[in-house]
Amino acid sequence: MSEVAKITLDGETHEFPVVVGTENEKAIDISKLRGTTGYVTLDPGFKNTGSTKSAITFLNGEDGILRYRGYPIEQLAEKASFLEVAYLLIYGELPTKIQLETFENEITRHTLVHEDMKTLLRAFPAGAHPMGVAASLIVSLSTFYPESQDPNRNKEALNLTIIRLLAKLPTIAAWAYKFSKRHPVVYPKNKYNYVENFLNMMFQLPTEDYEVNPIVSKALNTLLILHADHEQNCSTSTVRIVGSSHANLYASISAGISALWGPLHGGANQAVIEMLEAIKADGGNIDKWIAKAKDKNDPFRLMGFGHRVYKNFDPRATIIKKAADDVLSSLGIDDPVLDIAKQIEEIALKDEYFVKRGLYPNVDFYSGIIYRAIGIPTEMFTVMFAIGRLPGWIAQWKEMLEDKAPIGRPRQIYTGPNKRDYVEIEKR
Ligand code: SDX
Repeated sequence: MSEVAKITLDGETHEFPVVVGTENEKAIDISKLRGTTGYVTLDPGFKNTGSTKSAITFLNGEDGILRYRGYPIEQLAEKASFLEVAYLLIYGELPTKIQLETFENEITRHTLVHEDMKTLLRAFPAGAHPMGVAASLIVSLSTFYPESQDPNRNKEALNLTIIRLLAKLPTIAAWAYKFSKRHPVVYPKNKYNYVENFLNMMFQLPTEDYEVNPIVSKALNTLLILHADHEQNCSTSTVRIVGSSHANLYASISAGISALWGPLHGGANQAVIEMLEAIKADGGNIDKWIAKAKDKNDPFRLMGFGHRVYKNFDPRATIIKKAADDVLSSLGIDDPVLDIAKQIEEIALKDEYFVKRGLYPNVDFYSGIIYRAIGIPTEMFTVMFAIGRLPGWIAQWKEMLEDKAPIGRPRQIYTGPNKRDYVEIEKR
């Protein structure tokens, strides 16, 4: 006998079914609440509200668990390639050797962007933030490939859009960076794998070839895997709700990039480095900044700390912290902001304010230190998050469409003025 939830309203008791997931997560299905009671629920920030069922990513905030299609993130980060993980998230299973080679070859063949993209890129001012450029150019792809504007057209057309997105976002990201510096762009080269191609487009100079360092490409591969999906976070929920109107995939991903940009979300990785630099410039007075973070009257927050779901360690932060140590020591880099980050973590994790609120380092706390070590400029950090998160956004959008999800349209509780009549301007 399946469980029910009983709610008594205005003297009448109503029963609502309880949904149980494969990891024993439980939810009250209130899809008939308004129809049977006239009430809606209210949950700002959706802290207690599930928007969908999903078979893609499972995370457990209390136990610090993160799995993509059942595979633990620790195993994927260590053993898989980023495109292997992208295939797993999007199509549901780890690819066979042939499937992976086919997937990789299709993506390699679509890494070029239309030359007219340069006209768009030239229109942006020097120093343009690459997130603004990436969001604009990704949605513009729907105009270069108008057949993509009907997401329900057919499976082949949708799959080509998926391949084009995965193939072209790194090119667009690298070109956005080159244009912002008014440097000549570097074209993708088929001899490189996905990560190496991006590194070459970012760092090859007209005067010299770029030598791919295996430590750097492995670190970037790991970072992209760790960012690949994270269930119904802010930007993924944005991609789903935009897609629920049957807007095309390019438009939905562009909206996701915009949502990710916020410093409370993916923009935190840039904000962490800026915060660490500010603390270093302030003489490394960590206690002062910890006090600011705890002060309710001070808008400063400890960037890279805290999470809506993880009230214990973010498992990704644990992996990234070790990778940061490995990359910096392998490259012989001594980055003082890494020491400041470790001191902040040590102090905060003993401080009752952070412990009581379950505020631990999240995925963004150490990632910027690795990006910096491999030469990625700070303003590109959130774009790196977007490149990593792209397969997750695609997988979630595809699942939403396959599930024939209804258009997203939350209700509200009105708190404005009651009915009143128009007053002529002379009488106001
Ligand atoms: C990502 O959702 C995801 O999965 C996101 C993500 C993904 O992979 O997609 O994991 C990626 O976005 C990671 C988070 C990156 N953001 C930051 O690092 C920015 C700093 N952290 C926060 O602003 C905050 O912790 C959030 C936004 C991440 C979570 O905010 P919540 O869940 O809405 O929690 P809250 O703001 O209600 O905070 C609860 C309490 C409050 O204090 P009280 O009112 O209870 O006294 O904790 C305090 C907050 O003031 N608090 C912090 C803090 N974060 C929360 N205090 C100081 N420093 C912080 N960083």
